[in-house]
Amino acid sequence: MTEHISDIRQRFLSRRELLQGFAAASALATLAPASLRAQPSPRLPGSIGPGFREIGHDLTEGHRLSEEYRARVLIRWGDGLGGEEPTGFPLDSREQAQRFGYNNDFIAYVPLQGSERGLLCVNHEYPASHLMFPGNGTREETAGLEEDRVLCEMASVGHSVLEVQKTGEDWSAVSDSPRQRRLTATTPMGFTGPAAGHARMRTSGDPEGGRVLGLLSCCAGGKTPWGTVLIAEENFGSHFMGEPQAIMHSHPKEYAGMPGFGVNGAFSRWGRVDPRFDVTREPREINRFGWVVELDPNNPDSMPVKHTALGRFEHEGATVACEPGRPVVVYSGDDYENQYLYRFVSSRPYLPDQDGHNRTLLSEGTLYCARFHDDGRGEWLPLRFGEGPLTEANGFNDQGDVVIDCRRAATLLGATPMDRPEDVETNPVTGRVYVALTGNQNKPGPNAANPKPVNPSGHVLEILPPGSDGMRDHVSDSFDWDILFIAGDPGRDDALAGRYGGDVGDSGWLVNPDNLAFDVHGRLWVATDGANYQGFADGLWCMATTGGSRATPRHFFACPRGAELCGPEFTPDGRTLFVAVQHPASESGSTYDNPSTRWPDFREDTPPRPAVVAITHRDGDFIGD
Ligand code: FEO
Ligand code: CA
Ligand code: CA
Repeated sequence: MTEHISDIRQRFLSRRELLQGFAAASALATLAPASLRAQPSPRLPGSIGPGFREIGHDLTEGHRLSEEYRARVLIRWGDGLGGEEPTGFPLDSREQAQRFGYNNDFIAYVPLQGSERGLLCVNHEYPASHLMFPGNGTREETAGLEEDRVLCEMASVGHSVLEVQKTGEDWSAVSDSPRQRRLTATTPMGFTGPAAGHARMRTSGDPEGGRVLGLLSCCAGGKTPWGTVLIAEENFGSHFMGEPQAIMHSHPKEYAGMPGFGVNGAFSRWGRVDPRFDVTREPREINRFGWVVELDPNNPDSMPVKHTALGRFEHEGATVACEPGRPVVVYSGDDYENQYLYRFVSSRPYLPDQDGHNRTLLSEGTLYCARFHDDGRGEWLPLRFGEGPLTEANGFNDQGDVVIDCRRAATLLGATPMDRPEDVETNPVTGRVYVALTGNQNKPGPNAANPKPVNPSGHVLEILPPGSDGMRDHVSDSFDWDILFIAGDPGRDDALAGRYGGDVGDSGWLVNPDNLAFDVHGRLWVATDGANYQGFADGLWCMATTGGSRATPRHFFACPRGAELCGPEFTPDGRTLFVAVQHPASESGSTYDNPSTRWPDFREDTPPRPAVVAITHRDGDFIGD
């Protein structure tokens, strides 16, 4: 349904009132922004609200979910990729390299036989030595890790490919699948795009700058229509140690970027075992991380590639929007306070059934950053060397410099600082784009698209590329935007206040939206990361994005304490939902020896284990009905 332009203007007027309202918190209670009100489109796909009985806010040692549904653990950290249990914990590095990694995040289901059998492609974001090994104390006391534990950490990150099948109502890993694969911090991979072979990508171990070992901080990701998986490297700087000041004069560009990427060596000891991860000894190695990686999960012998044309920053995810005969669009947020939203547009078109051609599409194109105007319009600003401020006068010598120092380029162009852009997802029914902003307590001030002066609970933005629902043009350089909802408690008037489209009840409200997904009806599912400070568990909420219950979430699934929920992924038939429970028991003072929960095994000899859970309806219905 196409909105009338006068309705859009009216909503933008209300957005300004909303902005003023947050500046004066006492006014919040009386504000009911029109942009959050129901829209009169009850029959539009995507307008169907959740039909399940919701669960309450609580913080427990186990997971919880709506009573009409069942949840079964499919695979856990340390299991073999065919589901085989380990002989015991802790794991050594040799075992870990063969087994399901730590801190599962993004999940892609790639069908082999429809919604009954497929590949599960799972990211492993970061290790947690205090929960992986005995005797290490809390996270703050992890200095002095012995060498094999460092190697085990390096083997615990990256990505897993496993084959899964549904038998009756239960999903299990296939034990002898030839497609099983682990990618870790040492797996060889190549580069494409303007930074491939660039002088700033060359190291002592790779003088050509064309080959790198490993992928780091694999957070969210995406899928392409040609059957590959995109893996986003996020907080890669945290794996590096050393003294950035020591390279201030020898490598000024590398030095300049390091504070923003969190290089301080406080938690990582990897550089003691592998000098690549010591910035003092190998100052350019860090330039080889922070990219989007493309993996062909159907070919376990294929070499993954890092596509530098998509820019180097703390990529939360990489979501593809494209149609036959047109360029491929990839949306990606930079998950750091006051950083930006990006869009890549390929030079050449997507051609169905021409996989060889399609696998080259992400190597050449234009990267853009987003500017959100106060009037509800927005524009994509191209990051092209030689244009505007992206010149030698500002330290950019070529396009390789632009993509390596993407943040600095986007700042010079005037991109809008955001409240930590996490997942970006496109509604397959309407084509509208949704951006999870998880929160920002360290901002210079509000702007229209990030209206809270301080934002502890986050919000979700809606981007409307030109066109009508179902026919939106993601290639266009302009868009309209709206705020779908402000996360937080609707009963408060202070910085923790939330605002939704309707009455969310006691447990429909949420905080810190992180990962997003859509079901077959176009309903939005929001996974959270940060609720424990409010006294309840992170989990999953579902809502319509149009119609009478637009932006009115209902609570579906809750994690065990200390965990965040990641990777919500539906099978194509909409009847199975996979979720990744990440970092269970990650709480202050919680350790391997004395964890706050031993989910999911609850055995005294077994530590808490990040795990993927498969959720189905007890009657076989669509998830969410
Ligand atoms: Fe890895 Fe921004 O969550
Ligand atoms: Ca995330
Ligand atoms: Ca997260």
